[in-house]
Amino acid sequence: MSLKIELEKMVKDAFKACGYEGNVGNVTESKRPDLCQFQSNDSFVVAKQEKKNPKEIGEAVAAELDKDSRVKEAVFAAPGFINITMNDEYLIDSLYKMVNDENFGIKQIGSGETLVLDYGGPNVAKPLHVGHLRTAVIGEAVKRIGRASGYNVIGDIHLGDWGLPIGLVIYELKLRNPEWACFQEGFDADTDETITVTPELLYEVYPTASAKSKEDEDYLAAAREITAKLQSGHKGYYVLWEVILEVSKADVKKDYDKLDVEFDYWYGESDAVPYIPELMKTLNDKGLIRDSDGAKVVDVLEETDKSPMPPVIVEKSDGSSIYATTDLATIIQRQKDFNPDKIWYVVDKRQGLHFEQVFRVARKANLVGENTEFEFLGFGTMNGPDGKPFKTRDGGVMSLSSLLNTVQTTAKSKLLENNPNATDEDALRIGVAALKFGDLINHPSSDYAFDVDKFLAFEGKTGSYILYNNVRILGILERLQQDPEMIAPQKTIASENERNLILLLLRNPEQFQMAMTEHSPSYVTENTYNIAAAFAKFYAEHNIVKEENVEQQNSWLNLLKVTHKTLEFNLDKLGIKTVKAM
Ligand code: ARG
Repeated sequence: MSLKIELEKMVKDAFKACGYEGNVGNVTESKRPDLCQFQSNDSFVVAKQEKKNPKEIGEAVAAELDKDSRVKEAVFAAPGFINITMNDEYLIDSLYKMVNDENFGIKQIGSGETLVLDYGGPNVAKPLHVGHLRTAVIGEAVKRIGRASGYNVIGDIHLGDWGLPIGLVIYELKLRNPEWACFQEGFDADTDETITVTPELLYEVYPTASAKSKEDEDYLAAAREITAKLQSGHKGYYVLWEVILEVSKADVKKDYDKLDVEFDYWYGESDAVPYIPELMKTLNDKGLIRDSDGAKVVDVLEETDKSPMPPVIVEKSDGSSIYATTDLATIIQRQKDFNPDKIWYVVDKRQGLHFEQVFRVARKANLVGENTEFEFLGFGTMNGPDGKPFKTRDGGVMSLSSLLNTVQTTAKSKLLENNPNATDEDALRIGVAALKFGDLINHPSSDYAFDVDKFLAFEGKTGSYILYNNVRILGILERLQQDPEMIAPQKTIASENERNLILLLLRNPEQFQMAMTEHSPSYVTENTYNIAAAFAKFYAEHNIVKEENVEQQNSWLNLLKVTHKTLEFNLDKLGIKTVKAM
């Protein structure tokens, strides 16, 4: 049981003992840490219900709480607060219960539930660029935090592998290489030569084709025709598409590996295609489809809508499917394969309308059970230091691999200042930590500015700062020949700084719950930083290495081990790897 839950039970019992039943006993962190550790404001609630003075209620409950052996002090503070401070023994005891708990004290709110997490979403034949960073970083953290909270999380990349971009690439390749076997009449997949394409070729072909299609209508029409033919099973295009898919997947996987982002499934839009007939039949049977200039659309406008809510096109007049079609068919697929309780999408917030439309059609057509939750975790933009969307020096979109190179090289030169043996691998870890922390410290829906020097600073609210303090703890433990895993309860709490660190450690489980209910890893990120900062303060006050009282020294060493364990645990859930030296 987390500290918060235990305290709420205690306060609830105290209200009960004073004759006040009901849902009262909420406890929050103290708004005045100089006066107390926790507070309950529920005297106000009860006073309203009972038409009494909050003072009368608060004083009685505080007196009741004061009798509890775990409480150091509970006092009423006007106009209606109950200020609570717990005993040190109780704090220590709770801390070591948390450490020994198999879930690290985290409430298993997801227990028994399946959560399908749709994140990543790269597009085949295009390199990953900075626009793909946030979904990968946030999605990976939500996946791991979700698992720590007991959810059966299924991460699916949902590749964009079925739309016009593919048609454009195939058309451009056809113009350049008309002799390729896959472009010949009567092409036979089994006997014909193998086609070779490289990621470099694709990454040059796609922008060229895309630019041409914007200037030349015929070019666009031809690419559209190829897309439609591919979608209806043209053999040669299909074989070429499969090659492009494999090459692209292998290439984006390299970036995801560097970022420590891992998917359970590499399904794409194309994997939903077999479910399109069922989708169309369901929509038809329910009378949801309407013809609009030859296209099939579903109306989703609701009376209460204040902003425009256009109908959803599910089949274009040429019979081809679009983004919404495959998203809906994917819902059918996921329902069949995973029977999820929740489906969450970590996608750029500019796609909010698309998802609202998709969710509405899915509900109208009962593609999932009534209780299945759809959630759109829309994220904001990563800007440059100038506050405008992040661009390369010449104004282009930066590829993710260049961004990773930049952070790695910058980290390496910083590391070399102190350590001539610094490795590229550590530099990558530190660079990725900087990138991820700089993102995850914000609520996903906010924009933020990326600044490589600021993100990589060892001082300040950064990923490097956390890794650095973790390294300091490891250094102390090593110097005193301590096994970080051997943790025994500490004896006493020697200072306010030490107590603060313990309180932050104790509030850690709650931050996981907040992250899931508020759809934001920032709660865990913020507390991880706060713990590192509280450690730094504590360590500045006490000279642990030189402490002569062995019992005191051991007590502190145990606290350092708990701090280290918590930092490692949290960073892992944020998808951040630690280093041993900095
Ligand atoms: N490939 C899409 C894009 O680049 C993102 C996919 C998001 N997920 C989804 N189920 N639509 O915009």
